[in-house]
This record gives sequence, C-alpha cells and structure tokens, in this order.
Amino acid sequence: MAEQQRIVINGGKRLEGEISVQGAKNSALPLLAATVLCGGQSVLHNCPHLSDCDFACRILECLGCKCTREKNTVTVDSSVISGTEVPASLMREMRSSIIFLGSVLARCGHCRMSFPGGCELGPRPIDFHLSALREMGAQIDERHGYLECTAPKGLHGARITLSFSSVGATENIMLAASLAEGTTEIHNAAREPEIADLAAFLNKCGGKIKGAGESTVVIEGVKQLGACEHRIMPDRIAAATYLCCGAITGGELILTNADHDHLRPVIAVLERMACSIYTYGKGNVFINVRRPLVSPRTVRTNVHPGFPTDAQPPLMALTAVAEGTSVFVENIFENRFKHAGELVRLGANISVEGRVAVVIGTKKLLGAELVATDLRGGAALVTAALAAEGTSRITGLSHIDRGYENIEGVLRSVGADIVRK
Ligand code: UD1
Repeated sequence: MAEQQRIVINGGKRLEGEISVQGAKNSALPLLAATVLCGGQSVLHNCPHLSDCDFACRILECLGCKCTREKNTVTVDSSVISGTEVPASLMREMRSSIIFLGSVLARCGHCRMSFPGGCELGPRPIDFHLSALREMGAQIDERHGYLECTAPKGLHGARITLSFSSVGATENIMLAASLAEGTTEIHNAAREPEIADLAAFLNKCGGKIKGAGESTVVIEGVKQLGACEHRIMPDRIAAATYLCCGAITGGELILTNADHDHLRPVIAVLERMACSIYTYGKGNVFINVRRPLVSPRTVRTNVHPGFPTDAQPPLMALTAVAEGTSVFVENIFENRFKHAGELVRLGANISVEGRVAVVIGTKKLLGAELVATDLRGGAALVTAALAAEGTSRITGLSHIDRGYENIEGVLRSVGADIVRK
C-alpha cells in the first residue's frame, strides 16, 4: 500500500513556522528492546509513530509481552516472556531487530533469530555484537541463516574492547550486561546520545551503568530490573532534516522539543553555510536564512560528536543549491550515496567516487519523479524537492515512514505544498 503511494511536492514555497521535533527513533528501538529485561509494565513517552517502532512492538508481542499505544505513549508489560524466537519476517523488516538479542538472551538464557543480513547502506555485519556476547558466555551457532544463542550458565561480565565504536553493539552489550553476573566494561564504546538515553532508562529500572556517553561504559550486572516510566529523547536526525528543509527554502523555522547539545555538529556545518541559528530556552532552535547559501567545504561523517552519517543525505540536498563546491567523505557506511543519483534528476551536479561525493552548487533544481531507496536518502529527496521548481513525485515511502512521523503533515504545517496520494 505505502509503496504505491507517493509524496507530491510543488517546490519553491518558503517554510515558516514552528515544528515540534518527534521522539528519537534510534532511542525508541533499543528502549523497546530494553523493556524485555524489566519484569513489569514500562511506560515510554514521546515514542514516535513509525513503522520501525510498530515492528519492534510486534517483536515484543511475539516474545509474549503486551504492548499498547495511547498517542505517543507506549506501555510494554513484560511480566511474562513466553517466547524466545524472533520470526524471520520481522528480522527482515528491520535490521536493527538484532538489538533484541542481548535483552532476550539475558532475560531467558536463549534466543533464536534469523541473521539480519545486509541492507540498503551496504553490508551490515553483526560480528561485534556476536563476539561480545560470546565473551560474556553466550554460545552462538550460526547455521542455515539463523542465530541460535544460548547462555546455559547465564551471562557473565567481561572486559570488551570494540574495534569500532558501534552504536548497536554498545547497546546490545549494555542490555546483556545489565542482567549478567558481575561487571562488564565496554572500551571504545559509542558515545551517541542514544546510548546515554538507554543508560538513563536502565538505571531508572534499577540498573547500574556508569560512563554512558563516554568511551568507557561500566555496567554492573544486577539480579533483576523493575519497570519505569521514561520520556524518549528528541530525534536529532529528524531535527537536522527539518533544519535543512527550512534552510533550502530560505525560510524561518523554530524547532521546539529539540536538544541543542545533540545538534551541535549539525548546527556548526549549517552556520558555515550562512544559516543563522539561535538556540534558546529548553530545546528551541531558530533558523533563518537571509543570504545565499554557501558551500560548507568538506563534510566528513564520523561517530558522535562528529557529523552524523544520518544527516549527510539531507545536508547533501542543501549543498546542491549552495554556492561553491562541497565535498562529502562518508566514513561510517560503505554505500550511502544512493540519493545522489536521484538528486541529479532534479538538476543537482554531484559526482560520487567510492566514499567521496563532490557537489557543485547549482542555482536551480527542477521537479522530477524520484524514488526513495533508503530512509535518510528519502529525506534528502523531500528536502531537495521543497526547493525544486515545479512538481516532484517521490515513491518508496515505506523507507521514509521508518523514521519520520507524518513528514508531509509536519512540512505542510509550516507552508510546504506537499501531499501524500
Ligand atoms: C545506528 C543507527 C543508524 C546510524 C548508525 C551510525 C539505530 C537503530 N541505527 O546503526 O541510524 O546510521 O548507528 O551512527 O540506532 N559494524 C561492523 N560490525 C558490527 C557492527 C557494526 O562492522 O558488528 C560497522 C557497520 O557496518 C558500520 C559501522 O560499524 O559500517 C557503524 O555501525 P553501527 O554504529 O553499529 O550502526 P548501527 O548500530 O547499525
């Protein structure tokens, strides 16, 4: 159904107004997985309405949890876990379902799930996740495309050094270690803000985690975790996308319910492009663009607090109409420039060579038929289409719906001519 739908944008409308930033998808998913560890009723506020969150709830239901949603509050009752298998269909729908491995294994001593495999951004190995869990005492069989994981004697603490600061692996280890016997240290841990949000939730449930958000995280295992109520942090990538949307239309937007600190790496680049940005109060970000946009020169994606890879596609859309040449170096994923080919259909001048993309700013983009092939790439197409003269039609909406809550409604509310048909 969603595949046949399209977003139709008549570009050139200046965006003006206020956008309340949704809750973070990348925090909601590990937090939903974390509820498996808590034998009780966990309440997550600010949980965005996204297909990925729906898939996570379906996984929880397969495990025997009861999930209910009331607007943006999701309640998960995990008093009883009656299953330890995640169906292959759900594993395929959402690559990050691997995040359930640590929590199911820690709570039940067993977990069976299919290998998540690659994805639209290139190969997405899970070797760090598996080797860390093995160091914690898990036996993992990889056969016939399935992972059969057991911890017959329970998991135990370990000193784990990640060779790359993987977000998902850091989260999986934190989940598993929370109910493991003894203390786990994660060295070279990911420092993304979502890690600190997960630790805050687990600590409220009775966990003992220190150092989340820093490169060494120490988790003292506890016998059991209770449930708690938690408000999911704001989505820094959705916020970055809407800042790019405002900027590309020469608009004036106020984002509310954002987090200034999380947005610093993105704001720094937008300021280099001649956007005026003010942060004030509790979570307000004002952007206003009066002068022509200029190239930010070189943008290198990196782990936090570097420039986030997820914000690279919408920023690339913005540089397509900025004066001068911009260079993107993608350091996190191998294949993250698929949107470039679609942006070229709008008249952008972009060439890609391996992990480097060179964008030469053009004065004008013209509406075109576009296909979103991944989540943030889809957001880049929406961003560019807002500035393109004439009509653009974007298909492949299931990708965009994974991460943006009602994107067309949000943009329409600030003056975009955008509908979903
Ligand atoms: C998370 C985010 C995603 C973001 C990414 C990087 C969620 C749900 N998703 O993904 O939006 O783009 O962080 O900020 O939070 N790697 C391995 N082996 C592993 C694990 C990762 O080689 O076992 C590699 C990956 O292929 C990739 C890099 O490490 O090249 C970063 O991946 P990782 O930080 O794990 O990203 P995710 O947690 O999958």
